[in-house]
Amino acid sequence: MVPKNKIVILVFHPVLHKSRINRVLLNAVEGLEGVSIRYIYDLYPDYQIDIKAEQEVLLNHDIIVWQHPLYWYSSPSLLKEWIDLVLEHGFAYGKSGRALEGKSVLTAITSGGRRDAYGSDKGLKFSIRNLLAPFEQTVCLCRMRYLPPFVTHGTHLLKSDQIEKAAEDYVRIIEGLRDGTFSDDDLEKQEYINDIIP
Ligand SMILES: Cc1cc2nc3c(=O)[nH]c(=O)nc-3n(C[C@H](O)[C@H](O)[C@H](O)COP(=O)(O)O)c2cc1C
Repeated sequence: MVPKNKIVILVFHPVLHKSRINRVLLNAVEGLEGVSIRYIYDLYPDYQIDIKAEQEVLLNHDIIVWQHPLYWYSSPSLLKEWIDLVLEHGFAYGKSGRALEGKSVLTAITSGGRRDAYGSDKGLKFSIRNLLAPFEQTVCLCRMRYLPPFVTHGTHLLKSDQIEKAAEDYVRIIEGLRDGTFSDDDLEKQEYINDIIP
């Protein structure tokens, strides 16, 4: 069956061999039909990003996933570099920059902090959605749709069965996006895309 949406997962993890969570999430989605994975730190350890190759990848997919651990309330630095270089004026934005129009972007992050710590009086001032605002705005400027993020919280505390559950949820989300099973209305309502799973 031809998938409704082709998905590419761009992984930005500088020390994936030390990862407890992202590695399991990636193992779970590896090999899914219509889903390809690119390990950007492996491709560009010296930060010399092949802009044309990356743009070609974007053109060939409908949904782009930025998967990374949350580092200092943002992404590891290579994602910022990738955005700076790949989302060029005249390609991704600007009067004639419409190459990405109509595509969607999903942020898939893991965070040491627990969900209830974010955006609360007692914990961290800003919510995850607030912290991801620069990514959301970037996507909007490029005329793409920013999906509610997939977030795995409290990574230091997660036991192996909870990590497996997060990986199962990730598979359901990625398959659902690929197959177009979530309605726009339902997606719109979610703070996190995780919450769409009953
Ligand atoms: C440099 C660095 C910065 C981090 N900053 C944050 C942060 O701002 N917020 C947070 O919740 N966790 C933070 N963490 C924890 C990581 O997000 C967490 O260890 C990671 O998501 C776990 O995933 P992994 O096992 O795949 O590496 C940070 C970790 C490192 C190494």
